[in-house]
Amino acid sequence: MNIDLAKIDSIIEPYKGRQGLLISLLQDIQAECNYLPEEALVEVSQALELPLSQVFSVATFFKAFSLEPRGRHLIMVCLGTACHVRGGERLAQKLERDLGIKPGETTQDFEFTLEAVNCLGCCALGPVVVIDGKYESKVDSAKLDSILKRYQSEANKG
Ligand code: FES
Repeated sequence: MNIDLAKIDSIIEPYKGRQGLLISLLQDIQAECNYLPEEALVEVSQALELPLSQVFSVATFFKAFSLEPRGRHLIMVCLGTACHVRGGERLAQKLERDLGIKPGETTQDFEFTLEAVNCLGCCALGPVVVIDGKYESKVDSAKLDSILKRYQSEANKG
């Protein structure tokens, strides 16, 4: 995956020397790249005059951050008990088949990352799938097909 270092530099620039804003800076980089490239963390460490180990420990502590390249769209399928008994597992298997990836993986075109989670806190709406933060409730195979098609056609449009 190509990283636009000039773009990352422009994100870092206003944060120079502002150590207290480390998390905000990491959020901005993650929003731009969908993950935190190692090269960016090195630059962050220099710009904020913080040890690289400290930058890494913050980047790995928060689940919202990823050190691995992630897709443009993050799909979370719930496999908690309530969703599981209503077919969550079948949805997960369908997503694996349709996208050709396992939970924790990203499609080769970096369009989709799939994650399995244990409960999204809205069990009565299950089975639940969340795409880019949008909750889809009572999902069945047909509904999942139409959701995926919507995102895939957006991807094809570029
Ligand atoms: S088990 Fe899926 S939302 Fe709680």
